[in-house]
Amino acid sequence: MCGIVGYVGSRPALPVLLGGLRRLEYRGYDSAGVAVVNHRLEVLKTAGRVERLARMADPSRLTGELGIGHTRWATHGAVSDRNAHPHVDCTGRLAVVHNGIIDNHAELRRELEARGHRFVSDTDTEVVAHLLEELDQGDLVAALREATRRLRGSWALAVVSARQPGVLAVARQDSPLVIGLGDGQQVVGSDVTAVLDLTRRVLYLRDGEVACLTAEGVTVWDADGRRVERAPTEVPWEANAVELGPYEHFMAKEIFEQPQAVRQALAGRVEPGSGRVDLRETGLDPATFQSFQRYVIVACGTAWHAGLVGRHLLQRATGRPVSVEIASEFRYGDPLVDSSTLTVAISQSGETADTLAAVREARRRGSPVLAIVNVEGSSLAREADWVLYTRAGPEVAVASTKAYLTQVVALHLLAAWAAPRGEDTGLSLLQLPSRIEATLGLDPVVQEVARELAGSEHLFYIGRGLDYAVALEAALKIKEISYIHAEAYAAGELKHGTLALIEPGRWVVALATQRSLSAKTAGNVAEVSARGARVVMVGPGTSPARSELEPLADRYLPLPEAPEPLLPMLAVVPMQLLAYHAARARGCDVDRPRNLAKSVTVE
Ligand code: AGP
Repeated sequence: MCGIVGYVGSRPALPVLLGGLRRLEYRGYDSAGVAVVNHRLEVLKTAGRVERLARMADPSRLTGELGIGHTRWATHGAVSDRNAHPHVDCTGRLAVVHNGIIDNHAELRRELEARGHRFVSDTDTEVVAHLLEELDQGDLVAALREATRRLRGSWALAVVSARQPGVLAVARQDSPLVIGLGDGQQVVGSDVTAVLDLTRRVLYLRDGEVACLTAEGVTVWDADGRRVERAPTEVPWEANAVELGPYEHFMAKEIFEQPQAVRQALAGRVEPGSGRVDLRETGLDPATFQSFQRYVIVACGTAWHAGLVGRHLLQRATGRPVSVEIASEFRYGDPLVDSSTLTVAISQSGETADTLAAVREARRRGSPVLAIVNVEGSSLAREADWVLYTRAGPEVAVASTKAYLTQVVALHLLAAWAAPRGEDTGLSLLQLPSRIEATLGLDPVVQEVARELAGSEHLFYIGRGLDYAVALEAALKIKEISYIHAEAYAAGELKHGTLALIEPGRWVVALATQRSLSAKTAGNVAEVSARGARVVMVGPGTSPARSELEPLADRYLPLPEAPEPLLPMLAVVPMQLLAYHAARARGCDVDRPRNLAKSVTVE
């Protein structure tokens, strides 16, 4: 999932483009490039990071108030200077940057090569530059609209041409694109973080739309060529919300922002005195929620792990079957959903292609969709029937932390609101921010433990019930940023095979927060200790549970006293910190883990 940016206005485009690319780098960091127009087109691109591009960029050569930029997550064509964007046509006067995949690129390439076009890269995107070269009769926007009629797949495109200085042409189909509206200048980006330095007034481009940006203004057309009038929206947060501040990494910042993120997720939704929950803002009502015969949660990665906790909560609250589906499987799995099924889609970005495809499939089969999403104005938020925002604020680090916690909080709120069982869920949740603050106090101890196990090549996480769901998330965190091979298992399942992998010195992380299951989990911990494993355990900070569990562990991470339903949410915090410190101890790039990207906008 690449990041694209574009600028047209009255100031030098280069610094704006580089600033936008720095903000978008979490979307992909294999290569970077810019193209600037000043009577002629100047292109600079390189494999590697935006900082490398910035060091190579000569402002005296890359002059001009019109330009586009790109940071890449490679899909078609290896990571190289040649395959970096922008891609140009044969004349070297027109340049394109793209986020998405052109499915019919091979067919178009053959056709264009037969017409004499010379291709220099292995990417799918380069066909767009040569196709525009064919279609451009002096009106770049018209050529782009025509080109999009020939393309199949997904795209966010930004195009400039030396033949039309002052015009930035953009188009969107199944890939996010936001236009930032300024005075005498406009900026476009793959998400709002790229435009915030210039403006908070934005227009979200919709599927099939094409737009023309000039210093004077923005004109939008729909897929049928009709003019579109749409009021801009105001982004609810400032550019500094995506600044590092005193932190070394965004992941650390976002872990320590969790108390505040949870307060935002609860604000105005839980009555402080009674704990009564109110989610009428979703447009859904409890009676409609309860009218469904079954519930299907669809999501990917960390959001799917939040869904596993959600299944426990919603099934218990509604007494109806709740299943959790991996979105990329759900789509092609002939799912048994219809109008009696509520599909609950969970996503931080709201742009994950697999989750969007699953939602469209569910809706095609008559199942309405409730979205639990963090990014306002995202595709998922716009396509769902009802939306519950997680209000975590912008999440920049590729490894999701505060978004996960606010997703689980949202699921607790939903269960408490839609099918109240009289528990003090609301009152308990109001205690969560202070309990997380207390749990963050474990950081120095977790850092020590991380140093001890950072040399491991294999790690096992175990837990039962909700702890198993959290163990899966904990294992994903350490895998994606420290590259330690880690697997999570239902604690009772180990003895059915995987126990064979436990050998002396192997580290096992055990989660035992559920009082009703801790004796059983203790038995499973004894099984691995008997084979020489070293055990880190996360458990209650108070006895009697602590005095039973702590002696079984080499390292014990005691959680602050809290209502039991909150403990799994607290237990994930030291697990996030463990992954963070292990990755640092191994010298990994915590915020830009290899091969990954923050929002996966292609299937
Ligand atoms: C989590 O740390 C990962 N970045 C990844 O698994 C992520 O959760 C997944 O891609 C889903 O993203 P979404 O929540 O934006 O849909």
